[in-house]
Amino acid sequence: MRAIRPGRRDGMKSRCATGNGVRRATATMLLAGVLAGAFVLTAQAQQLRTVTEGVYSAEQAARGDEVYQAQCVTCHGDPAEGSVGPPLAGDRFLPYWSARPLLDLVDKIHNTMPLQAQAPLSRQESIDLAAYILQAGGFPAGDAELTGAALAGIALPAVPTASIAGGDVPVAPAANLAQVMRAIAFPASNIVFNVQIKDPGADAPPPTGSRSFDYVEWGATVYPGWEAIDLAALAVAESAPLFLAPGRRCENGRPVPVDRADWREYTEAVVEAGRAAYRASQSRDVDAVIEVTDQLNDACANCHKVYRDVGAEGRGVGSDRCRQEP
Ligand code: HEC
Ligand code: HEC
Repeated sequence: MRAIRPGRRDGMKSRCATGNGVRRATATMLLAGVLAGAFVLTAQAQQLRTVTEGVYSAEQAARGDEVYQAQCVTCHGDPAEGSVGPPLAGDRFLPYWSARPLLDLVDKIHNTMPLQAQAPLSRQESIDLAAYILQAGGFPAGDAELTGAALAGIALPAVPTASIAGGDVPVAPAANLAQVMRAIAFPASNIVFNVQIKDPGADAPPPTGSRSFDYVEWGATVYPGWEAIDLAALAVAESAPLFLAPGRRCENGRPVPVDRADWREYTEAVVEAGRAAYRASQSRDVDAVIEVTDQLNDACANCHKVYRDVGAEGRGVGSDRCRQEP
């Protein structure tokens, strides 16, 4: 029972990328799970505001600026660059405070700054300083002042971090979403889909140098046969969380809707499908992998139906992709 991949109007090989795969009972059940999950996550999200929502006033930041110039600037400099002390804005500051409540930041200032100070800061000064730091970091002012009572309910933005050489360094998106899909999801999935028409166990590596710029052929001489399927399945599973990276934009400039619960669920379904494909590939059983290609196809297509193949279709600026209200 080998499935045949349908053609693709814009030239894509992948069944997954077509989004016109047959809907099955399992896909419907998956969708039901998605909706249930969406409810829970939305309820949680309402409790925490983030600093992007105008949580302090401009007057308050000006007060904080005055204190900053008098008591902090010698050690922290222009807040984004730091000096004796670390920077208090930007890429070398935000990852450390990722998703933490403003209360932590104000406590840090109030309890430990200025370093070795004779006279401690008042609570109000510490809060005003936090407002100034937010302003320096480019977070917008709003109408109301930041109050002590609100601090625990407001979070700094979540920043993805990867541990490199024992430290946390920010991983800022380098690609737009379409590029991530084309660069990683598309080739990796297609290698798995290829098992529908080609038995990796019977695959003879192409003669070296036959088409040296075709990375699939060249790579197949290095990691041939089933190992290529193993690695592609792992690439699908490991790379899908990149769809959730904060700060990534779609090709049309819209922010990727990473905060939406259904977006997260669709992404998790790809991680699951990638793991399942790996397990199937490890069985070295062609039919087992073909079975999983349906799961993988649905995982990609379910999201595409809602967020990609919508409204004003097509690529780039002016398209309706990634719109927030499906
Ligand atoms: C004498 C130098 C000095 C002065 C003055 C000073 N700081 Fe610091 N600050 C430091 C050093 C050093 C660190 C890093 C060690 C630590 O976290 O305690 C730091 C850390 C911080 C941090 C944590 C940053 C991070 O990412 O870890 C904040 C926030 C901060 N300072 C705010 C302030 C504010 C606001 C003032 C002015 C009221 C101030 N500091 C005055 C030296 C100073
Ligand atoms: C969570 C939602 C989501 C999932 C899951 C998802 N995609 Fe996408 N995909 C999108 C969106 C949205 C776009 C449009 C991106 C843009 O325009 O920047 C896209 C674009 C693409 C493109 C680019 C099409 C073009 O314009 O050239 C390809 C290829 C693609 N996806 C393949 C895949 C594959 C393969 C999978 C599964 C392994 C997958 N996608 C999973 C949402 C998703």
